[in-house]
Amino acid sequence: MHFTEDILTLFDKKWALVTAGDISDFNTMTISWGALGTLWSKPVCTVYVKPVRYTHEYMEANDYFTVSFFDEKYRPALGILGSKSGRDCSKVEESKLTPVRIGENIVGYVQASHTFVCRKIYRQDLDASAMTEAVREAYYETEAPHTMYVGEIVGIG
Ligand SMILES: Cc1cc2nc3c(=O)[nH]c(=O)nc-3n(C[C@H](O)[C@H](O)[C@H](O)COP(=O)(O)O)c2cc1C
Repeated sequence: MHFTEDILTLFDKKWALVTAGDISDFNTMTISWGALGTLWSKPVCTVYVKPVRYTHEYMEANDYFTVSFFDEKYRPALGILGSKSGRDCSKVEESKLTPVRIGENIVGYVQASHTFVCRKIYRQDLDASAMTEAVREAYYETEAPHTMYVGEIVGIG
């Protein structure tokens, strides 16, 4: 797989979709926080999902999630998926992206340029007491901290 972007700014600048669930019942949201790397000698993709997100329920309930990247022309679609909640509307239909079943309880998107299929190997609620005060004040004054999900990358498409 070949990314032309700077790997350090990949999530921040390009954004991605994280998706969990089965093709008959899944949810997706836009993320710009994430990391690619190595843990326990495995290639991993780590994402951070706030407990208030509808997607969080799907991340908790499923053993797999996907992280999908898109060309620039799909940014408005990612904007929709990152500003509306699947609790309230059919935002995937609204985005005009086409979900595709990759495997059992694994959903991606036809339009994605790159998709990581991730097997959840670790989850942890970020601990506010372990953060600097500056981070806590900047990000967690009103809502509970993100849950970190580390996924072993078991497939790349
Ligand atoms: C560019 C962008 C990046 C985002 N990154 C994250 C993220 O990394 N983690 C997170 O919890 N929410 C992030 N969000 C917010 C969610 O995508 C947004 O709240 C979404 O509507 C949640 O949808 P859901 O309720 O259907 O899960 C981001 C939103 C945008 C627009």
